Amino acid sequence: MATIITTAYRPTAASAAEAERIAEELDIRFIIRNKRSVEKMHEDEQADILVASKERLEFYPMGKTEPFFFHPNSAAFRTKRPLEKDPLIEVSGLAPGDSFLDCTLGMASDAITVSQYIGSAGSIVGCESNPDIAFILKTGLSRYDAMPHLTEAMRRVQVVSSEAVDYLKTLKDNVFDVVYMDPMFTEEIKEASNFTPVRSSANMGQLTDEWMDQAIRVARKAVVLKAHFRSQDFEKYGFERRVRPNTKFHYGVINLN
Ligand SMILES: C[S@@+](CC[C@H](N)C(=O)[O-])C[C@H]1O[C@@H](n2cnc3c(N)ncnc32)[C@H](O)[C@@H]1O
Repeated sequence: MATIITTAYRPTAASAAEAERIAEELDIRFIIRNKRSVEKMHEDEQADILVASKERLEFYPMGKTEPFFFHPNSAAFRTKRPLEKDPLIEVSGLAPGDSFLDCTLGMASDAITVSQYIGSAGSIVGCESNPDIAFILKTGLSRYDAMPHLTEAMRRVQVVSSEAVDYLKTLKDNVFDVVYMDPMFTEEIKEASNFTPVRSSANMGQLTDEWMDQAIRVARKAVVLKAHFRSQDFEKYGFERRVRPNTKFHYGVINLN
């Protein structure tokens, strides 16, 4: 499905210029809104739609009238608690100054939380295979300023728009302390989230032998998996499962030291 870009219902000169700039950057068509609803534009253009409004960039996959847009989501409250007790940070064995590769960036909540913990001496890359999600994330992480305590952590996340295995293959051995994977759950979680509008556009692929081999090759300290508590991937790929009572997802770790 092609993606096009347009403006908000009532565009400003600045948002129209921004839409044209993004059209050029992504090499996609800029279509004048002409006061059409998103539904009408989907019907007319038969495309997924990016909307450059004054406040933010929004993404409406075909058939969706609720937008996906950047927000720190759970990172907003996770970073207000002691970070060393965050389940992802604990299981990863991360230390400030470490490097972290998030193979499945999604909404970047995990990436922002980790970035806050590893700090300016650390480095963090987030890989996202859906180019529209990757672009919304890249733009949001570089611009969002409504949570000042997270601004620097967000700016430090480098977004790579790529399939994780393809990106891993470009890397030398042992270049990230921790490699993390959080593929989409195959069992739908019934909670509403900011991610709901793009759920059906996200990469639904699960772990593969090749992905695991590459993650172990690239990681120095640990490979970490987040998956549904019913997932058999923990056992299949040799992760030590950290059971979290009363949660729908578990973490698993392969310690490499
Ligand atoms: C469950 S979400 C990740 C949520 C994320 N951990 C967070 O904190 O917001 C999975 C995301 O990873 C992407 N994804 C899934 N498989 C991928 C792969 N093989 N390579 C790159 N991205 C992938 C999906 O498109 C989706 O956006």
